[in-house]
Amino acid sequence: MICLTLSGSTLSACLSEIRENREYIDLAELRLDYLEKSEQERASEFPSMTDVPVILTLRRKEDGGKCTLSEKERRALLLSALDGDFAYVDIEEDVKKNDVEEKARAKGVKIIRSFHDFSGIPDDIYSRIYRLAERGDIAKAAVTPHSIQDVLTLFRISEELKEIPKIIIGMGDWGIPLRILYRRAGSILTFASSGEAVAPGQISAKDLKLLYRADQVDEKTGIYGIIGNPVLHTSSPQIHNPGFHAIHYNAIYLPFMVDNVRVFFALAEYLRMRGFSVTIPFKDAVLMYLGNITREVKQIGACNTVVRMPGMWKGMNTDYYGFLAPILKDIESGRIRNSLVIGAGGAAQAIVWALRNRGVKVTVLNRTVTRAEKLAKINLCEYDTLENASKYEGKVDLIVQTTSVGLYPDFDANPIGSFHFTGREIAYDIIYKPKMTKFLKEAEKAGCTLHFGEEMLLEQGKLQFELFTGYHYPKLTPQM
Ligand code: ATR
Repeated sequence: MICLTLSGSTLSACLSEIRENREYIDLAELRLDYLEKSEQERASEFPSMTDVPVILTLRRKEDGGKCTLSEKERRALLLSALDGDFAYVDIEEDVKKNDVEEKARAKGVKIIRSFHDFSGIPDDIYSRIYRLAERGDIAKAAVTPHSIQDVLTLFRISEELKEIPKIIIGMGDWGIPLRILYRRAGSILTFASSGEAVAPGQISAKDLKLLYRADQVDEKTGIYGIIGNPVLHTSSPQIHNPGFHAIHYNAIYLPFMVDNVRVFFALAEYLRMRGFSVTIPFKDAVLMYLGNITREVKQIGACNTVVRMPGMWKGMNTDYYGFLAPILKDIESGRIRNSLVIGAGGAAQAIVWALRNRGVKVTVLNRTVTRAEKLAKINLCEYDTLENASKYEGKVDLIVQTTSVGLYPDFDANPIGSFHFTGREIAYDIIYKPKMTKFLKEAEKAGCTLHFGEEMLLEQGKLQFELFTGYHYPKLTPQM
């Protein structure tokens, strides 16, 4: 079940939140502590105003809520709200047996017994969940993972407590896999937010339902993902998930924040993952865990795609293909013979190798010239400083921008600001947020042909999809 946490301050605002998200959710949580005082007193009317089952919660400040009432006042408010037909009521673990509990039981309202830990994962989490469940309630543990090891621990605990009705939530960015794979983690529901601007760790109900199809995950669902740090901004889920859906392939693709690649591989085994994408800063770090790599990975020294093979993980690189795909015709026709590559970082490695492998002449320009020199030596090409960019005006067919300069939110920066395009060049920026960088704007003004980072991202993703599934990427345009 996907449960929408209502954040409105009035009952009517909460109803509109439900209305806007109705097709994505199975139930809603009314947070009494978010309501204005006069609205709190009318809370009992709420369940009859909507067709979704509602959880009643009045969260104390120390548990992350807004309620500062005395315990007696808080109980009185919950009791009066329980006159309404709520489906569940949330009662904190440490609250002793009381009139709220009695009234809920008498009315057949299910009890969710919750505890919160904003600093980490309590050592006794296992026994606490077990004890709560023994009382016949639904145990809810909202804890805070701080590493991929913590995420693995939470999945393991969930597995061990498989038979117990529970909700395990990993708060913050690290906990996102538990929110999306809540069914695999054995939770009866996952909490979602409304709207697009969500707090860290929270995912919108729309994304959980339509993008991830989190409520459809079953034992047979193949799990794929992307590892990186940071990784939550990635558009790759928008490529793979709609692709899986379109070809009726039972699989899910989600982001994993990672701090330790070795532990992630343990998690990947644990979840029986079938493959994953790799982004910054792990494209080199994964190499030592792979049993097999392709020639490209060996040459480039970086891997962005890992797939499960019998008894081992295999590493591939689809970045180089994704980069080439939009300009391949121009290389083959001879329109592109001579190029400038701006930057000498991880992304440039694959790009310079791809161009050289296709016989294109390359000059690498970089702020730190020793890095440009090193890359040029490996790939048998030329190098120079960024300041000398104007030397190459009118002499190259293709200019590729591979640095992070111009990346969101740095809209107004261009690493070769003084360079004059003649209009004959093909300008290619691998940044995809924003789509139109300052570098590309300058090139457009001069009348150049443009290529966008989005094209590279999509092309590398399509090839990755084939490696993951064995099927061609379907005919659809991902909303990235
Ligand atoms: P990636 O793996 O994304 O390529 P990287 O290895 O850190 O990341 O490389 C970033 C590239 O952007 C490098 O070429 C870097 O230049 P240096 O080698 O001199 O560091 C370039 N870069 C980053 N910030 C820059 C800036 N403000 N001006 C010019 N180049 C910059």
